[in-house]
Amino acid sequence: MSEITTQRPADRLVAGENRESKPLQSGAIPDPLTTPIDQIDVSDSRLYQQDIWRPFFKRLREEDPVHYTEDSPFGPYWSITRFQDIINVETHHDVFSSFPTIVIGDSPNGENIENFIAMDPPRHDQQRSAVSGVVAPANLLQLEPVIRGHAADILDSVPDGGETFDWVDTVSIELTTRMLATLFDFPFEERRKLTYWSDISIGSPETTGMDEGPEEEEIIEGLNDMAQTFMGLWAERAAADPGGRNDLITMLAHGEDTRDMISRPLEFLGNIMLLIVGGNDTTRNSISGGVLGLNQFPEEYDKLKADPSLIPNMVSEIVRWQTPVLHMRRTLKNDFELEGKQMKAGDKVVLWYISGNRDETVHDEADRLIIDRKLARRHVSFGFGVHRCMGNRLAEMQLRVIWEEIMKRFSHLEVTGPETRLKSNFIRGIRSLPVVAHRL
Ligand code: HEM
Repeated sequence: MSEITTQRPADRLVAGENRESKPLQSGAIPDPLTTPIDQIDVSDSRLYQQDIWRPFFKRLREEDPVHYTEDSPFGPYWSITRFQDIINVETHHDVFSSFPTIVIGDSPNGENIENFIAMDPPRHDQQRSAVSGVVAPANLLQLEPVIRGHAADILDSVPDGGETFDWVDTVSIELTTRMLATLFDFPFEERRKLTYWSDISIGSPETTGMDEGPEEEEIIEGLNDMAQTFMGLWAERAAADPGGRNDLITMLAHGEDTRDMISRPLEFLGNIMLLIVGGNDTTRNSISGGVLGLNQFPEEYDKLKADPSLIPNMVSEIVRWQTPVLHMRRTLKNDFELEGKQMKAGDKVVLWYISGNRDETVHDEADRLIIDRKLARRHVSFGFGVHRCMGNRLAEMQLRVIWEEIMKRFSHLEVTGPETRLKSNFIRGIRSLPVVAHRL
């Protein structure tokens, strides 16, 4: 077995390292309504940190839905902002490639962590099918009572008696981390390492505009710890009889197309990271986003209290409204014309899910959370086509279960102050959310 040592932040899921690059946007944020259209640049991660992105995308959808930004810290890129155009691009995966990376910024040293979200068929399909069993319906049925047990345990121990606590850390992170530890059959008492590894893997200034993370030395140390830990788990599971075990490491270590992955360190690490990050931030932010949304739209909270059977529809609506993954990027293999715009081979094409989900031609009052919205499932938060989120059913189940358990215990979850948000153009992250939980 070869040794894995990560030496650079380039070894992150969405890699990046210091380089002679253009600095991130700074100074005054341009006015979304009066700035000349060709200067609209939605790669500015401050738009998401400050949650002020709506008018920028509204203007693009109305005036220039397939939009070219010539100059940005991430180089030139196309923005796809309407629902149907996003679906069209994702359907043409033969032309719009996921390789070498699915975030707006390139790895500056040209090295990429390999994983199947950033591969095209047929390699993508082989690797995805090796692990997709973990979220197959039969496995989800077994997982549901386990997740419900964790949800109950976490909710029963949140502070009450009027005390404010951080919902993100106490509930959203804790529940998703326990779910991930279950999927990997990871040592339970060390589960917060999974959260930490996910947090340090989700971006860098060069790739996603995220410039608030820990120092590089700390990141390298963390990633090395992750690599060593998972190599150890792999060795243990590969040597054991897989019979009856259905955790992700066992599946990869024994899968026909993946069992030799350990000899390809970047791919091994990349796929582990993909599963950690894929299942972590996204679900975490949907849990927090739901609490925030119901407080911003109290009439929707009233509807839920009057009729908790709305929960399954509400879950889809929360995933649409929150849109935990802001974008996915593709790279054009050939010249292509879309909506009259001539794109060239090699161009970056960014699918802004956050905008597709606000498309007025698909949803009325798209900025509002409406828990009984008709066609709430009509969203692109999970993407579309061959890369459509592998964990979407698991995520929905987890969100349904947490809301069922919340409604059994609390008359009201009250947001008592402003949330803080992640500075990233890739993950729509809520970093903290002060809440008082009123028990029934
Ligand atoms: C609300 C929660 C979630 C959201 C919004 C979300 C979103 C996404 C998106 C946008 C993609 C890319 C789709 C595309 O390119 O068309 C994706 C892919 C993926 N997601 Fe999720 N995800 C969530 C939960 C999860 C969970 C719980 C897991 C854990 C198993 C997971 C694992 C993956 C994997 C493995 C991929 C790569 C699929 C592929 O390339 O074939 N996701 N997800």
